[in-house]
Formats: sequence, C-alpha cells, structure tokens
Amino acid sequence: MQLGHLYSIGVGPGDVELLTLKALRILKEVPVIFVPKRDDKQESYAYNIVRELIDTRRQEVINLIFPMMKDEAKLRVYWQDAAATIWQRLAQGKDCAFITEGDPLFYGTFSYIHRIFQQHYPRVNTEIIPGISSVNAAAARAQTPLAQGDDRVAILASTPDNERLKQIICNFDTIVLMKVHNIPRVVTILEQLNLVDNFIYVQRCTAPAEEIIRDVRKLKENKSDYLSLVIIRK
Ligand SMILES: C[S@@+](CC[C@H](N)C(=O)[O-])C[C@H]1O[C@@H](n2cnc3c(N)ncnc32)[C@H](O)[C@@H]1O
Repeated sequence: MQLGHLYSIGVGPGDVELLTLKALRILKEVPVIFVPKRDDKQESYAYNIVRELIDTRRQEVINLIFPMMKDEAKLRVYWQDAAATIWQRLAQGKDCAFITEGDPLFYGTFSYIHRIFQQHYPRVNTEIIPGISSVNAAAARAQTPLAQGDDRVAILASTPDNERLKQIICNFDTIVLMKVHNIPRVVTILEQLNLVDNFIYVQRCTAPAEEIIRDVRKLKENKSDYLSLVIIRK
C-alpha cells in the first residue's frame, strides 16, 4: 500500500483568516489531523484556530501530548511516541496533517518530529506549510516595524540574566522576547536603560483575547500569559 503524505501546517497566530490558502486546502482534505497539546486538560490553541474548518464526521482528530519541560532526553520519548502514532496512520495510506500555532519551524515541536521521520521513516514524504509567526503578527498588530534598513533583530525564546539581557538590548535595534515569564524584571531593566517607552507587550495577537499594552505600569504586577511576547523597538 502507498504510504500517506505527512504535512506540517502552520496555522498562524490566532485569526483563522491568517491561514494560507494551501494550509486551508490541505486541512480540509486530509483524513487525519494531529494536534499537539501540553496536557489533557488544556485546550489546544492551534486547534481552536482551525476548529471551524474541520469536519469531525469524516476527519479523525488525534491529540499528541508534549509536556512543558526542558529535559530533552525525557521529551524525546514523547516525540518518538508521537512519530510512531503518526506512522500508524501513514502506513494505512492516510494523509496526515500536524498543526502548529504560528510557523512550524519557528520554535515548533514539529522540527523534532521531522528529524525522527528523516532518520527512522525516510520513505515518508513530508511537506511543511509555513504559517505567519507570532512575531510577524504581533509587529503588524502593534503597527511597529521589526526591522528597517540595516537594523539588527534579536529574538529570544527565554529571558537571560539581567547583565546579558542589558547587553542584548544595547546591541540590537529590535529585541523580541518570547515565552517571557518575568515581565517586571524586564520592565526594571528598561527603566534603568531609559527605554520604557520602547516597550510593547502583545498577548494572543489576532485572536479574540488579544491585548496590546504599551504602558508598563499596567504590567508591572501582572503575570504574563504564555501566549504573549514583548517587542522592544529602539
Ligand atoms: C513554542 S513558541 C511557538 C512559536 C510559534 N511557532 C510561532 O511561529 O509564533 C510559543 C511562544 O510563541 C509566542 N506566541 C505564540 N502565539 C502567540 C500569539 N498569538 N500572541 C503572542 N505571542 C504568541 C509566545 O511568546 C509563546 O510563549
């Protein structure tokens, strides 16, 4: 039997209208859709974006759990289990789509799954459909350029210690902080550098719960949402 085709689909930052036409077509066509989730309790943000497009009477939706942890050895077990589950459907000749919020290859789990397929299931054809990343969408919603001319942009997926963060802020024109857990610490540093007016906090951009906050006083006490980022544009 012919193997199914594996698509990795970036579903964008939140607004379903930001899907590409290609992502839309494939999502409607494939018989199986894989949905990455942190645990069984939380809803999938990526699935919520495309829920209205999926016909669960003819399309199978399978959750894949990837817990939030940093230990790569432990995570590898989840990636391998997920790849084996996807393989079962592909071996039945079914085309499969693995959805990712934003873009799949920008801090997305699919890059690890993709490597496992390249190494262990090389006969499977994979195709990656890019999505609009949260960084591009946040800049658009905040109406702030990410880069102009020779500008240098730093994108950080974790917030380094204060000294390192200060160095980075001084050395780049635009700094994007993703997965930012400690907004008050970032704000304190910006105050020290006299850059509080260059700060934009963007939460769940393009989704109904979007929030864009420029006034740092509103954030100093707040615990930030996981789906948020900070743009510092000098
Ligand atoms: C694992 S990364 C995934 C990035 C995603 N693949 C992308 O292309 O945007 C998760 C981080 O992306 C950022 N993020 C994702 N979606 C977002 C959104 N709609 N609004 C603001 N930040 C978002 C947050 O910083 C979050 O902690």
